[in-house]
Amino acid sequence: MVKSVYIHIPFCKNICTYCDFCKMYYNENWIDKYLESLDNEIKENYKNEKISTLYLGGGTPSCLQVIYLKKLFKIIDKINLDNNYEFTIECNIEDITEEKLKLFSLNKVNRLSIGIQSFNNKILKYLGRNYNSDIIDKKIKLAKKYFDNINIDLIYAVKNQTIKDLKDDIDRFLKLDISHISCYSLMIENNTILFNNNEKYIDEDLDRNMYDLICGKLKEKYNHYEISNFAKKGYESKHNLSYWNNNEYYGFGLSASGYINNIRYTNTKNLSKYILNIYDRNIEKVSKEDKMKYEIILGFRKLDGINKKDFYKKYNKRLEDDKIIKDFINKGILFCDDKRVYINEEYIYVSNQILTNFV
Ligand SMILES: C[S@@+](CC[C@H](N)C(=O)[O-])C[C@H]1O[C@@H](n2cnc3c(N)ncnc32)[C@H](O)[C@@H]1O
Ligand code: SF4
Repeated sequence: MVKSVYIHIPFCKNICTYCDFCKMYYNENWIDKYLESLDNEIKENYKNEKISTLYLGGGTPSCLQVIYLKKLFKIIDKINLDNNYEFTIECNIEDITEEKLKLFSLNKVNRLSIGIQSFNNKILKYLGRNYNSDIIDKKIKLAKKYFDNINIDLIYAVKNQTIKDLKDDIDRFLKLDISHISCYSLMIENNTILFNNNEKYIDEDLDRNMYDLICGKLKEKYNHYEISNFAKKGYESKHNLSYWNNNEYYGFGLSASGYINNIRYTNTKNLSKYILNIYDRNIEKVSKEDKMKYEIILGFRKLDGINKKDFYKKYNKRLEDDKIIKDFINKGILFCDDKRVYINEEYIYVSNQILTNFV
């Protein structure tokens, strides 16, 4: 049974140097048409299931003018939320105003995911973020008036960033006393401004030291529950956990991905098609074997790992009997107790490489 919905809003007021998400410059001429198509896509596909987690991502949903946000919330209102729902909106720090925060909370949003990326002005400039870190404390204070469940996204491993710079960033974050943080090492993706400028990754040892520093500094107050995610107890992202638990979900909007009835799909990235209600879905049928692989690859991203009983119920196979898993357990890369199989913390940093063995 589908319990999650992702909705993509592809508009941004500013294009960042590292970004390879599906996004485009904010243009009023397109927004009404986009919202109409989104409405249509939801009407055509959503079967009125009770939804536990709803995620409005982008692009930058928060950059829409209030009149469009109101239209968007009207469309979303069709989605039937269950009592214990989580409804997140991605919000860029510069968009935070009292008016928008009020509107979000009036429309059932109960979690903000705020892209801050760094507290250091030089790094913000390199990343192409067009705000000054001076605004952060004031904006967060305002956001906390309306929301207690807040995530902050931070990027590290940026050219010329020192360990001291990163320490300062984490200290600034800790002072804000926020419930959740996602920390991502900078990826230089094809066709981004950084890539086209021939920018390079930082030294691998420094990257590793930075990751260790983040984990070490956050450990006292935060539960490190996924490779890049840390939460105060009870504030783990239910929506992202549902992805990592390999649950099915709807994806609506330009370029949005979904996973329904054993089919993984991705909508067209072409706005001209999307607004004509042509979704041109790229479709992948997921066999039972593939489903099991996804379950393993996604499941080991969580530090809690995979529940053995649940796995057996789904696949009629013992997780610890898989040849690769057995091998990793013998090597001490994975641990196995009576309930679950999970990754040895010492190997979290290289978990992406480890997980490619299951592909
Ligand atoms: C969907 S994006 C959020 C979009 C939102 N408009 C913003 O800029 O905050 C989610 C997060 O992924 C991270 N991210 C995106 N591209 C990245 C890259 N190339 N390398 C590392 N982290 C990246 C950023 O921290 C970003 O906030
Ligand atoms: S990082 Fe966020 S704000 Fe920047 S271009 Fe990408 S989606 Fe837009």
